[in-house]
Amino acid sequence: MQLKRTATMLLGLATAAFAQAQGNWPSKPVTLVVPFAAGGPTDVVARTLAASMTKSLGQTVVVENKLGAGGNVAAAYVAKAANDGYTFFIHHNGMATSTALYRKLQYDATKDFEYVSQAVEVPMTLLARKDFPASNFQEMVAYVKANKEKINLATAGLGAVSQLCGMMFQRALGVQLTEVPFQGTAPAMNALLGGQVDVMCDQTTQTVPQIKAGNVKLYGVTTKQRVKVLPQAPTLHEQGLKDFEVVVWHGVYAPKGTPAAIVDSMNKAVRAALKDPDVVKRMDDLGAEIVPDATNTPQALQAHLKSEIDRWGPVIRAGGKFAD
Ligand code: MLT
Repeated sequence: MQLKRTATMLLGLATAAFAQAQGNWPSKPVTLVVPFAAGGPTDVVARTLAASMTKSLGQTVVVENKLGAGGNVAAAYVAKAANDGYTFFIHHNGMATSTALYRKLQYDATKDFEYVSQAVEVPMTLLARKDFPASNFQEMVAYVKANKEKINLATAGLGAVSQLCGMMFQRALGVQLTEVPFQGTAPAMNALLGGQVDVMCDQTTQTVPQIKAGNVKLYGVTTKQRVKVLPQAPTLHEQGLKDFEVVVWHGVYAPKGTPAAIVDSMNKAVRAALKDPDVVKRMDDLGAEIVPDATNTPQALQAHLKSEIDRWGPVIRAGGKFAD
């Protein structure tokens, strides 16, 4: 009897302490895990949001880059991280496509996370090194078809959107190029600038400054509509790759079991960041579109992830490219 009373009392104390901890959240720095290299497109979005959330939360939001396996090392890490409200994760379409691309994953995208919020959508661009011998898209296609065995396509690995877009491009042309995987498109871009690789798909959040500086050749954008920040760039769809479309969407997640009150507070922080004029301007300058506020709910992110898993599964399986 005495033992039971003591256990009940201890449980009560622990619950009270936890409730107080939630009320004080965040009482120390919060980590936002990025699954690709620093300086790349996901990192740019993460650091822009983190700077704004640091102001609104009153605690530093630290960006931590965990690299490998096309984003899956980071996803597995966050899935197993403490669910105490101090670890969050930002990821893109890879959260959905990896489910079809990998035979074995160390996490389940639909079971191991709490959904915090959607954030931004980003177009991709089809690029080549500056001295690539093609001055427009039709010439590029002809050159790629004629020289397929010697062309290197840079990607950020299976699970990355650069790989997904590259795979769709190869499939549309009926060619197989040599894929060179990096741990993010930041190092892939360095290789493109250095001429060590030939072509790459990458998000405007990294490519706009390089395109504007004339450091790379641009052959088109992967959205159905032209992109405001690159008005001169035709879509791949309008240039003959019918229905070619890759839109990169970013969402914020937490390990499963993170207290609902903290998920809700983080959702409010992300939404506040997406309204911060500094964030709005930076995203606008880089061609990223902020997802409308009404759809930045945990439920909308969960539904979007599910619809993307349903959408990409058959496309990927038809390509027959899998990893363990
Ligand atoms: C990155 O941040 O490096 C990219 O999002 C990787 C990718 O292409 O998916």
